[in-house]
Order: sequence, then structure tokens, then C-alpha cells
Amino acid sequence: SWNLQDFVQETVEEVKRRVGQKKVLCALSGGVDSSVAAALVDLAVGKNLTCVFVDHGLLRKGEAEQVVRTFREERGMNLIYVDAAQRFLDKLQGVADPELKRKIIGHEFIRVFEEEARKLGQIDFLVQGTLYPDVIESGTATAATIKTHHNVGGLPEDMQFELIEPLRLLFKDEVRRIGEQLGLPPEIVWRQPFPGPGLAVRVLEEVTPEKVAILREADAIVTEEIRKAGLDRELWQYFAVLPPVRSVGVMGDERTYAYPIVVRAVVSEDAMTADWARLPYEVLDVIARRIVNEVKHVNRVVYDITSKPPGTIEWE
Ligand code: XMP
Repeated sequence: SWNLQDFVQETVEEVKRRVGQKKVLCALSGGVDSSVAAALVDLAVGKNLTCVFVDHGLLRKGEAEQVVRTFREERGMNLIYVDAAQRFLDKLQGVADPELKRKIIGHEFIRVFEEEARKLGQIDFLVQGTLYPDVIESGTATAATIKTHHNVGGLPEDMQFELIEPLRLLFKDEVRRIGEQLGLPPEIVWRQPFPGPGLAVRVLEEVTPEKVAILREADAIVTEEIRKAGLDRELWQYFAVLPPVRSVGVMGDERTYAYPIVVRAVVSEDAMTADWARLPYEVLDVIARRIVNEVKHVNRVVYDITSKPPGTIEWE
């Protein structure tokens, strides 16, 4: 039967053997997969691993701080934190199309990562948090283990690394157990899936710093209340969305004309299908009151009761 401790030990030994004294690079997102992969490789090669964390300014409240605290301060790992918020915002200015936003962010991400990688000099290996379902999906179950030279995800031709994929035989729940075993904090181990383009696909249409700030505050309230109600591990995802419309409201004796916030919470096994979560009215009530009271420029909260299909989980 499958033993966690053996897996960790064997993986560490294997990575150690493969890498020797060479240099390893890791793109750390703060998600479960890249975090557990990085922590495992750290056990094997220590200071020969450098992690690069690109903050595109579209992360949730406290997320960047959490990553820096966990990996640099608590675990003493080499972590390069890149604040690239302004760069991404500039590129996104005036862009309303969801797929174009994704393309711009993906492209810029690679460029920032590449710039940082080049500063480090010769790098031989790249860590990726690929899981078994990703391996099967891309139809490369055997290729992934045999063909180790890849041109990884849009990096330039002359930047070739060998891949280290320590999680390629694991499922998500196994990765979480290993994360716990390695002493990663629950905020990272139990983190809900979060799209690479981040809050940019939840600020609908054009992304502005003001709108990102509004959404980030509203989203933090959703997260906090879901956790407080003890529902976080039952839900697949729970978050806020900011639509590009305003509506009339009244606060005190004042007429308001402000944004609504859409609250989205779903249950799912694999994100291919999802059902809207039957959140208790009391939880919805607290979330709605707090958002309207605490987040400026918001005067209304609605709850999305669409399942997938026909809706998608995200709004863009
Ligand atoms: P949808 O909205 O298609 O999302 O039901 C399914 C799952 O994928 C996540 N998602 C993304 N993840 N980059 C990502 O890394 C993306 O551009 C992206 N778009 C959606 C979404 O959060 C959900 O878990």
C-alpha cells in the first residue's frame, strides 16, 4: 500500500541523484501543486533551488505575503519575489476581451519569468507541479518520463531545461497529504483552485487598479466568512466577481449608484461539472451585509445560482 513517508524519502533521493550539484529553477505560484513540488525539491537540493514568484498584481488579499512568509522566512528557501503589478496593469489597459486578457497575462508572465531566469545564469532543471491527471490529459504519460528535454510553456528556444516533476504520479488529495507532511501551512495545502490570470478574469471586461482593489476586498470577505462557517473544505471554489455595471441603491438618506458584487460558490469533483453551493442563508446574509458596509463603491450583492453546465465556474 501507498506510504507517504516512503514516497517523500524516495522522491528526495531520486531528485538528489539526478540534480547533483546543478542548478534548479521553480516557478512558484503559491498554489498547492507548485508549493508541494518546491518544498520536496528543497529537501533534496536546498540552496541549489531558486524559486521565482511573479506577483502580477492580480492575486487575492494577503496571498503574496503568505508565499514570502512561508517559503523565504519559515523554510529559508531561495525565493525571488517579483512585483510586476504595474507591468501587467499597463498591458491590460483598455482590454475587455476575456481571452485576450488571458493571452496578455500568460505572455507577460513568461517574459517576466524569463528575465529573472536569465539573471541567474546557467540553470539545468525546472520544477513543475504536474499531477497525474494532467499527465493523462495531455496524453504524455509515457512521454513525460522518457522525453525530458522540453521547451517549457512558451519559454524561448535557447532556454532549455530538464524537467523535474515530482508529483507526476499523484492525485490532488495525495499532494495535499504530502503538503501537510512537509509542514506547509493549511492556507496553502487547502487552497482552492485559483486561475493563473487571477482577479483579471473576475473583474469583468476592462481591468483597472481601482476595480481590482474593490474585488480584492469583497473576495477577502467571502473567503473569511466561508472559512468561519467551516465550509471551506466542502466547497470546490468560492469567490467574488465584479461586473462592469452599476445600479441604484440607498444608504442612509443618500442615493447611491455603485457596483454590485456577484458571489460564486460551487461544489465539484474536477471542475468539469459543478453545482452551485446551497450556502446557508445566514452565511449569505453576513457576506452581503459585510460587503456592502465595508467595501466602498459597492451597494448590492447577488448570489450566482447557475450550475456548470450551462454556466462556467468563472464568469470570464
Ligand atoms: P471554468 O470557468 O471553465 O473553470 O468552469 C474551470 C476551472 O478552471 C479554472 N480556470 C483557470 N485556471 N487559468 C487557470 O489556470 C485560466 O485561465 C483559468 N480559467 C478558469 C477555474 O478557476 C476552475 O477551477
